[in-house]
Amino acid sequence: MMSNIKWIDEVDIQNKRVLLLVDYNVKLSPDFKIDSNERILRPLPTIKYLLKKRNKLILISHLGQPKEKEEKYSLKHILPVLRPQLPSQEITFIDDFLSAAGQEEISAQKENEILLLENMRFYSGEKNGNPEFIKQLASLGEIYVNDAFSVSHRNDASVIGPPKLLPSYGGLLLKKEVKTISQYINQPKKPYVVIIGGTKISTKINLLGNFFGHADTLIVGGGVANTILKQQGYTIGKSIEEPKEYERIKILFKLAKEKNTEMLLPADVLIGKNKEDPSSLVKKVNELAADDMILDIGPETSALYAKKISQAETIVWNGPMGYFENPVFANGTNHIYNAIVQNNEAVSIVGGGQTLAAISKKEQTEKITHISTGGGAMLEFIEKGTLPGLQALSTE
Ligand code: 3PG
Repeated sequence: MMSNIKWIDEVDIQNKRVLLLVDYNVKLSPDFKIDSNERILRPLPTIKYLLKKRNKLILISHLGQPKEKEEKYSLKHILPVLRPQLPSQEITFIDDFLSAAGQEEISAQKENEILLLENMRFYSGEKNGNPEFIKQLASLGEIYVNDAFSVSHRNDASVIGPPKLLPSYGGLLLKKEVKTISQYINQPKKPYVVIIGGTKISTKINLLGNFFGHADTLIVGGGVANTILKQQGYTIGKSIEEPKEYERIKILFKLAKEKNTEMLLPADVLIGKNKEDPSSLVKKVNELAADDMILDIGPETSALYAKKISQAETIVWNGPMGYFENPVFANGTNHIYNAIVQNNEAVSIVGGGQTLAAISKKEQTEKITHISTGGGAMLEFIEKGTLPGLQALSTE
């Protein structure tokens, strides 16, 4: 399927300036602490591989969804985690690669120096695909390498632009993601259960529809479930939701019926006053008051979801079931995780930024068939077998 991509370990890249796309899109706390280092650690084999062959690296990435340049989305916050991983390299942060000062620093790059460019999404060209921006970006490297599976579902300039102008290759992480997911998911064994959680339905709703007819059961939790419950007429109080998605949710229900796919929603939930609440209360979904906030799935729902997972032969999971950052609301997510690792028979593919943060410190992660860095990218790749970033690398 992806045999027409050239991978960096199948060609000889030496002594080149390499523009390397990584996904350092991590969640930062208000004091700029990183919730999970996983996305910073995963591309290290590619970085080390290219360094060993005496290439000079220019790292590019995005962080968050900024509308303009903002301190809280600066990639410089990842340096305290990245630098200790590459102790013999000097890592220089380039605040603006388009400025004269930035250009000067880039042209003065030393042998043992890695450059990290500021958040690509601080530039309007990243989202609008301005050809001049793509040209300026591509001019920094002689070669482009994509090691960012998790952002390869975006049509952003840094993902699909440079391959139009430079010899382009896939990195080792990208290769592992593509090959492993393809291997296990091309003909999923049944029952096939897909679990979707996380904050927003808007970023996933189109992908959800794609699973109908393929998956047997779609399990829904997190903020994604809130919007569906509200659309179905339930009171969800102060819970996070996206009313603009109601119309598309109607279509989702229609599709589920047509394609005969079971869609499970929470029957009970944990509510709190706010995310930091030190205590919680279990309520049935039809018992919520106007000032309740849904922050996790309830025990009855967790038990039902765990049962479905225990019977599955193929499991795909993206997105936590609640606000797991507060341990009071982590039970639902933990139940899903435990049910997956206890099912020794099933192929399990688990991924996404928040999901990685929720499970990366847990025991038994080796029991999961593949832990992907991708959330939206993983779901889209499973359903379509390709992504814009992969197509851009494709030589056909
Ligand atoms: C992700 O977290 O799924 C990727 O980094 C893509 O981020 P985005 O949804 O902001 O494009």
